[in-house]
Amino acid sequence: MSEGSAKKEERCRFQAIKGVRDILPPESALWNRVEQSAREVFATYGFGEIRLPIFEQTELFARSVGEHTDIVSKEMYTFLSNVEPGSSEQSVPTSSLSLRPEATASVVRAYIEHGMQMLPGNVKLYYVGPMFRRERPQKGRYRQFYQIGAEVLSHSGGLIEDARVDAEVIEMLMAFLAHVGLTQTTLHVNSIGHSAPECRRGYVARLRAELLNVKDQLGADSQRRIATNPLRVLDSKLPSEQETIAKLPHIADHLCEDCRKHYAELRAQLALRGIAYEENWRLVRGLDYYMRTTFEITAMGLGSQNAVCGGGRYDGLVELLGGPLTKGIGFAIGTDRLVLSVQETALQGARKVEAESGLAAYVAWMGDAAYPTAVRIAQVLRKAGLRVELPAGDAKLGKSLGLADKLGARYAVIVGENEVASAEFVVKRLADAEQKKVREGELVAAVSGK
Ligand code: HAM
Repeated sequence: MSEGSAKKEERCRFQAIKGVRDILPPESALWNRVEQSAREVFATYGFGEIRLPIFEQTELFARSVGEHTDIVSKEMYTFLSNVEPGSSEQSVPTSSLSLRPEATASVVRAYIEHGMQMLPGNVKLYYVGPMFRRERPQKGRYRQFYQIGAEVLSHSGGLIEDARVDAEVIEMLMAFLAHVGLTQTTLHVNSIGHSAPECRRGYVARLRAELLNVKDQLGADSQRRIATNPLRVLDSKLPSEQETIAKLPHIADHLCEDCRKHYAELRAQLALRGIAYEENWRLVRGLDYYMRTTFEITAMGLGSQNAVCGGGRYDGLVELLGGPLTKGIGFAIGTDRLVLSVQETALQGARKVEAESGLAAYVAWMGDAAYPTAVRIAQVLRKAGLRVELPAGDAKLGKSLGLADKLGARYAVIVGENEVASAEFVVKRLADAEQKKVREGELVAAVSGK
């Protein structure tokens, strides 16, 4: 071998490792546009960005995602660090750290660490960045992949328990997907109840018993899950198991009264927002922290890895990680899969929105009959690129205006019974209390004034 070719060989020796890849121009421009669209649409719903560390204590993921889940038991990149958590001293290697396989756990850790329960209203955060799972690589499945995620958290006593919050989070997600031109999607929803004996725990016991009866018809993975996590058997895609799984009992028939009501309310709220969905009783998700609402979005043309987004409610996770009584809900979109399914042309007309420039309007609604109109008004204003806060529950006008002021809203749009009847709404500028009555078609102009 000549000296020149030996040198060349040396130069080419390095390649990206299995399951990770470079994103080159012009594709990287598409990624930027997708991420920028998320920032803009999420801002209209009042979300702010949180930038999180890439690695955390392993224990954080074990406790939240769940020790027995595939993610934690098989897929994490874990290493020992010689730095004790919380100290800058170099000491013996006692601390196990992991590259983040997902970001909800980190958001919850940050929420607790920074005392965010003291903030007014619901805390709404989004994140954009890489996650790491040691999965078998294939189209749409990588070991370093990217997510765009959003989370809403609020201390108990806030309004976050309301299924209106679940529906608004899903509405934002659908608005973003529509914004980037991804319309050929299916939204799957389910409720997995909560962990009490009269709810999910009772169902899991029943499911386990039924699964033991049909054990011989299941593959090795599902057989193992009967003991560790029987709900995950429902997730199986193995063709040979489908007939058996189809005959298993449905969780919807075993929900407690409160969870059943919450699920019914979620469906009603999605309908109110004009969001089409399919109920999917097998949607249990692969992370342990969920309760009640779970959802996923599948898109066409992605082959077997067709889930572009997954999410759900995780009331109780904050307490589990040592924080105050708090409820939460959120989702994460797989950016790699999203980009795969988005047509570049669909993005070209994407409008620029101004939502980063502060809260434009607080929709103060009064009485349940006014809520559907309030939802519509918020949608119209957000579509125009304005950042809007729509509370999940109503309050007396004075209280609403107080909260609107605390949140820094420029305007309050008042929606009560009379306004709904007359289709004229009071728009109040909070800086000087000047107010005027406007028709729905004039709201965007009225609220756009700085
Ligand atoms: P997840 O379902 O594990 O949920 O991931 C969300 C999305 O990330 C998936 O639907 C998929 O699009 C993408 N994804 C996951 N693994 C890979 C991979 N190996 N390669 C490419 N894309 C992948 C979560 O991570 C939760 N933290 C979501 C959440 C937020 N729930 C509540 N808040």
